[in-house]
Amino acid sequence: MLTKEEIIEKTAAYVKELLSGEGSGHDWWHILRVWNNAKTIAASENTDLFIVELAALLHDIGDHKFHNGDETIGPRMAAEWLGSLKVQNETIDLICTIIKELSFKGAGTTSDMSSIEGRIVQDADRLDAIGAIGIARSFAYGGHKSREMYNPTISPEMHDTFEAYKNSTAPTINHFYEKLLLLKDRMHTQTAKRMAQQRHEYMEAYLEQFFDEWNGLK
Ligand code: ADP
Ligand code: NI
Repeated sequence: MLTKEEIIEKTAAYVKELLSGEGSGHDWWHILRVWNNAKTIAASENTDLFIVELAALLHDIGDHKFHNGDETIGPRMAAEWLGSLKVQNETIDLICTIIKELSFKGAGTTSDMSSIEGRIVQDADRLDAIGAIGIARSFAYGGHKSREMYNPTISPEMHDTFEAYKNSTAPTINHFYEKLLLLKDRMHTQTAKRMAQQRHEYMEAYLEQFFDEWNGLK
């Protein structure tokens, strides 16, 4: 029997190996940050830390965007991996439910996470989309998709519905208004709300500076 620490350690090594070289925002470093965020949030919650840590580590292993829309691949890979480490079936089911629930994130859904462990991992994942890291990730993603940083003739207001956004090649700055600035109000836990507020203010200051520089005012 492996100890919980050994299971977490082995899982981290497995995910690191699997995702190294992923260039579009779901690389190992994203997982590491989400894992760290999750531990910080969990410290003030009454929760099963073993489940939180494993779900954080495994939450993006089969990201549907990179597997032709197959949303079942993540939970399946996680179940197979955890089964090979002889993790209890009940624990595997809880982790797979979290991964499944997390993947329903499109269309502006405020998908309900059915467990506190899931809410913690969702908060941790959302935190990594905002603040200084979130800014960097959004421009990295935009570059990956050959998008413009900003285009004053394509205003954020023109892309305020999800359908328009989904089918558009909107500049990266628009993504702030469509998604990133909305995330602070969607946090579940007190700790994440506090962290999100600080990251949110940082993004607002960034945007102000960005537009001042764009217009040659500063
Ligand atoms: P998650 O981390 O929840 O899986 P996504 O897969 O939606 O998030 O996106 C990964 C990263 O790419 C996030 O930082 C997100 O903000 C960024 N991103 C997603 N869509 C866009 C977009 N249209 N423009 C700029 N950045 C984006
Ligand atoms: Ni993620």
